[in-house]
Amino acid sequence: MAGTPGEKITIPSLQARKTVGPKIVCLTAYDHPTAKIVDEAGVDLVLVGDSLGMVVLGYETTVPVTMDEMIHHTRAVSRAVKRALVVGDMPYFSFHLGADETIRNASRFLKEAGAAAVKIEGASRKRLKLVAAMVEAEIPVMGHVGLTPQSIHHLGRYRVKGTAAASARRIIDDAIALEKAGAFAVVLESVPVEVAAEATRAVKIPTIGIGAGRACDGQVLVFHDMMGFSTGYLPKFVRKYADVHGVMAGAVQAYASDVREGLFPDDATSYHLRPEVAAELAPTKGRRAAPGRGR
Ligand code: KIV
Repeated sequence: MAGTPGEKITIPSLQARKTVGPKIVCLTAYDHPTAKIVDEAGVDLVLVGDSLGMVVLGYETTVPVTMDEMIHHTRAVSRAVKRALVVGDMPYFSFHLGADETIRNASRFLKEAGAAAVKIEGASRKRLKLVAAMVEAEIPVMGHVGLTPQSIHHLGRYRVKGTAAASARRIIDDAIALEKAGAFAVVLESVPVEVAAEATRAVKIPTIGIGAGRACDGQVLVFHDMMGFSTGYLPKFVRKYADVHGVMAGAVQAYASDVREGLFPDDATSYHLRPEVAAELAPTKGRRAAPGRGR
């Protein structure tokens, strides 16, 4: 196994896991308490994904997420994480205006937000040049191919990618091209098991799968999905490990009922005066108000 338990995860130690294992465990986190839970539970890679737009900010897609929102949430996460590698997700339009703007935005994740790396969607020729430019600027980059949610308006809906021979080959080639451009790892999202297995064999960098089967070198899920915190549609690849939404809703209902019935607060959750102070306050009957004050 690369590194020892409790040892800070670095990019080289993460890359060594491709050959010596164990599999890389990645989860998203967007705030301080969640990041603390995830890090203390031994997750290796904490991704501050732009999925935060959908699961914590209430946007319909990830497209509206801004750089400032990403920096705000990444800072909260970085303050909590002691061991894992923190990766900040480049939001839509933070890397579309050229290399200088891309490097400026990516560097904010490292300089202002405490992340160790960034993730960027896509592997077009132009995108690969940006990856190389960021790496040249000492910014470690994780690629992301297969389903790229920032392209939702092109795609029409979120669905499995690489189901035909040509598109499957393209995903494998994209992973290879990202490795050549200097990416230290690549996310494979919503692709058939066979495509992810071939891409994993084809590159020396770790592949991190989400809806890509178990041949990948690691796995990632959106925290709110696997915790049962999100409501509504969940992709087939999500396994729910808890019912956080149900637990929280139950607690809120119990609190509301206690308040309405006068059961909260009780003595144990209230402050009391010491008896002698309480005595001083006791019956004010017969006491006269000072002249000119009160009635
Ligand atoms: O934004 C995100 O959370 C992601 C993961 C699902 C890989 O990109």
